[in-house]
Amino acid sequence: MASTTLYTLASSLVLILSIFVSIHFQVTKAQGTQPIVKGLSWTFYDSICPNAESIIRRRLQNVFRQDIGQAAGLLRLHFHDCFVQGCDGSVLLDGSTSGPSEKDAPPNLTLRQQAFRIIEDLRRRVHRDCGRVVSCADITAIAARDSVFFSGGPDYDLPLGRRDGLTFATLNETLANLPPPSFNTSLILASLATKNFTPTDVVALSGGHTIGISHCTSFTERLYPNQDSSMDKTFANNLKITCPTTNSTNTTVLDIRSPNKFDNKYYVDLMNRQGLFTSDQDLYTDRRTRGIVTSFAINESLFFQEFVNSMIKMGQLNVLTGTQGQIRANCSVRNSNNYNLILPSSLGDQEKQGTWSEI
Ligand code: HEM
Ligand SMILES: *[C@@H]1O[C@H](CO)[C@@H](O)[C@H](O)[C@H]1NC(C)=O
Ligand SMILES: *[C@@H]1O[C@H](CO)[C@@H](O)[C@H](O)[C@H]1NC(C)=O
Ligand SMILES: *[C@@H]1O[C@H](CO)[C@@H](O)[C@H](O)[C@H]1NC(C)=O
Ligand SMILES: *[C@@H]1O[C@H](CO)[C@@H](O)[C@H](O)[C@H]1NC(C)=O
Ligand SMILES: *[C@@H]1O[C@H](CO)[C@@H](O)[C@H](O)[C@H]1NC(C)=O
Ligand SMILES: *[C@@H]1O[C@H](CO)[C@@H](O)[C@H](O)[C@H]1NC(C)=O
Ligand SMILES: *[C@@H]1O[C@H](CO)[C@@H](O)[C@H](O)[C@H]1NC(C)=O
Repeated sequence: MASTTLYTLASSLVLILSIFVSIHFQVTKAQGTQPIVKGLSWTFYDSICPNAESIIRRRLQNVFRQDIGQAAGLLRLHFHDCFVQGCDGSVLLDGSTSGPSEKDAPPNLTLRQQAFRIIEDLRRRVHRDCGRVVSCADITAIAARDSVFFSGGPDYDLPLGRRDGLTFATLNETLANLPPPSFNTSLILASLATKNFTPTDVVALSGGHTIGISHCTSFTERLYPNQDSSMDKTFANNLKITCPTTNSTNTTVLDIRSPNKFDNKYYVDLMNRQGLFTSDQDLYTDRRTRGIVTSFAINESLFFQEFVNSMIKMGQLNVLTGTQGQIRANCSVRNSNNYNLILPSSLGDQEKQGTWSEI
């Protein structure tokens, strides 16, 4: 009798606690202030695949326990996907024999191959639970969000409902949309303004460089033949040890203060002239962005708030929704059974050739 009461009491306590925890969880999850593209929704999978996000999060927790470096690879993958042709999973597609694709463009050379495998593994797990209803593009967006969260950054809700594109981007298109690290602030601002990003977005998104690594080849032009005068001398000398030649295949961390932690130390690096790329360091040199860098360096909450906002904005670049595109059964290849029903007539002949030869 007494034990039953105790049991009831204990289970109601657990229930109350779990309600409290889940409410608390909802409240602390930022949603940002971005308007949402028609067709995306905050509750998209609630009825058709309610476990999608928890399956991905649980799996990634395990992946990152083995190697937290994969978080950086997944964050960058979502950025590349969105900037080239929109967040449509196009970055995941293998090229065809008819020509090079997004994956073959120089920036792709430094995408982690493991990131592609992780996305496909997540797709398999999610589709096993719900069937083919969750897109590779959404899985990539969720994985990027979870990468930020598990690295110590903010957690936030994502509008979902992206569909997968039918075409991979050409090499030219990829190069035209991903600015190189040698760009100064003027060029970066101009490049990102074409996608409606403000200077605050640019500084906040560059904060993605608070985690991860770079190959020497991405910055040795700042060391040889002449040392970039905007770079701290000791920092430069240490980089020269890691990268003794311009063609060294070594890598180094993007944020020397806390390479695996998603925090605001990247901006502290910039204030100390320890930014790795010109595109990073010049944000502190240029008067248009210097104040934003400083404000993020002294207020991490402000950085997190702006980062979430800009990520939600980036995550909606040219998304396909509704009946556009498809839900891929394999993230690296287009579905072959229904292509003629959904191939948009607006596609150029050249693009058509590129994709038809895949089938
Ligand atoms: C603003 C223009 C940007 C430029 C010029 C740029 C450039 C680069 C370059 C050159 C690398 C190193 C590649 C290598 O040599 O291995 C890199 C790495 C990285 N970038 Fe960016 N990036 C930019 C924006 C972003 C954005 C918006 C994000 C995400 C929000 C991001 C996240 C990352 C991450 C996490 C890495 C490390 C990847 C890894 O460890 O595998 N970047 N970026
Ligand atoms: C680009 O990445 C893909 C992704 O797996 C890889 O198969 C391909 O070989 C890479 N391209 C080049 C030129 O290395
Ligand atoms: C790609 O760009 C280069 C130079 O920018 C140009 O010469 C070439 O014709 C372009 N190729 C295609 C297929 O558009
Ligand atoms: C940025 O780089 C471009 C191209 O090298 C150059 O023309 C421009 O003057 C630079 N801007 C600043 C403010 O340094
Ligand atoms: C790689 O970096 C180490 C120091 O971190 C350096 O001793 C070595 O020479 C570098 N190797 C190459 C191939 O650049
Ligand atoms: C790198 O460059 C040096 C000097 O230019 C050359 O001797 C060496 O063979 C190159 N190494 C690779 C891996 O290309
Ligand atoms: C830091 O930024 C947050 C978020 O915008 C703001 O609420 C807070 O007042 C700021 N803190 C300081 C000390 O300025
Ligand atoms: C997905 O497509 C790739 C490339 O064609 C192939 O190697 C792989 O086996 C496919 N995976 C599945 C599960 O069918």
